[in-house]
Amino acid sequence: MSENQQRESFGSKFGVIAAAAGSAVGLGNIWKFPYETGSNGGAAFLLIYIAFIFILGIPTMLVEFSIGRRGQADAATSFDNIVGKKTSWSIVGMMGILSSLLIMSFYSTVAGWTLEYMFKAFSIAKEGVDTAQYFGDFIADPGRSLLWQVVFMALTAFVILQGVAKGIEKFSKILMPALFVIIVIICVRSVMLDGASEGLKFLFYPDFSKLTFDSALSALGQAFFSLSLGMGALITYGSYIQKKENLLETAVQVSVADTVVAVLAGVMIFPAVFAFGVEPGAGPSLVYITLPKIFAQMAMGGLWAMAFFLLLTIAALTSMISLLEVVVLFFVDRFKMKRLSATLLSVVVVMVLGVPVTLSMGLLGDFTIFGKNLFDLFDFIASNILMPLGGLLMVLFVGWGPGTEFFSKEITNEGTLQMKSIIMIEGLLKYVVPFLIAIILVAGLI
Ligand code: PHE
Repeated sequence: MSENQQRESFGSKFGVIAAAAGSAVGLGNIWKFPYETGSNGGAAFLLIYIAFIFILGIPTMLVEFSIGRRGQADAATSFDNIVGKKTSWSIVGMMGILSSLLIMSFYSTVAGWTLEYMFKAFSIAKEGVDTAQYFGDFIADPGRSLLWQVVFMALTAFVILQGVAKGIEKFSKILMPALFVIIVIICVRSVMLDGASEGLKFLFYPDFSKLTFDSALSALGQAFFSLSLGMGALITYGSYIQKKENLLETAVQVSVADTVVAVLAGVMIFPAVFAFGVEPGAGPSLVYITLPKIFAQMAMGGLWAMAFFLLLTIAALTSMISLLEVVVLFFVDRFKMKRLSATLLSVVVVMVLGVPVTLSMGLLGDFTIFGKNLFDLFDFIASNILMPLGGLLMVLFVGWGPGTEFFSKEITNEGTLQMKSIIMIEGLLKYVVPFLIAIILVAGLI
């Protein structure tokens, strides 16, 4: 097909890894993983998290990459292309498009906050500032928070508009190494603080008594969300991976990178939290209230705060890029739109959903559906329902459905790669992974 010949792809192996790791490394790594680890038994939790990455994460990532590379299209149309006709399996991809839109609507809100904090680092991370008050006032101020959300969306769209190799790949290749350098520098500073060892103990001391069924469940769900699985981002990126690349190797490298950054985030945050004697926590309050208070007590605190929020901005940006690309490629491949109009349309849809989410932090705070404000509602629908359900169906497509045939051909590059582990991976995809994802789904609903 002439269309396929013109299809863009990632130019280098490092580009593929940077882009996919960029998607995986996000807010989840920095504000959720460290806390989950610390409060669920430290190294004990880390061990089962890593086990889930191997048992569930890497096989599922392979499924997504292979569907995309085989299908050579967006997350929905790839299913049609593999089956060879229009099929209802493409609905799985469309659920992914919907998840992307929902995730972007609240991710862009939080990402916008990081911009405010990065630019105002010196006046926020300063002694005497009541950071809880500052944060409360800021998110309730519709003008400022909406402005930053729009700026963040514009940044994301700017990258997407440059295309796959010159946009997504090029920026990921710059941003991901930068992220890594910044996180290592902050880690070094953090472990040098007096009293840092308490924090490292919180994070790493293996306490098997804290490892309950619930903590195993958190590890499972966290592994899934952190690797960006189940919503088509990796199908989309898979469609840009060249035929010569080794998909298994790529999936392993991306998963390792994601886990390393998550652990480093813990090493960055907890020694500081304990050195300054504050309560550890997770989520927005950790990042926007607790940490600025800590930076304020450090020498050159403004600078550290700025570096930290730059780090968070990069993490959020590369994840947002992957989310927006899911929707843009859907419009381009499915409806033959131009990249420019597809991007503009996607941004408009995200803003229609995202503006009320931002406002739900203030003006619309009293507006709830099923007892949740819009922010929590969209997060719940995407993370607890659509992503696990989508992931389950993708895995069934390959394990039991019409995708069984192509999968081994695709991951062995048509039989040219020797791969002893393939039998094991296929076994996991048939008998183990669907079961684990079903557990995430049921647990998430309860
Ligand atoms: N993996 C990202 C994180 O850890 C979130 C994400 C999910 C990004 C799905 C893209 C797609 O924050």
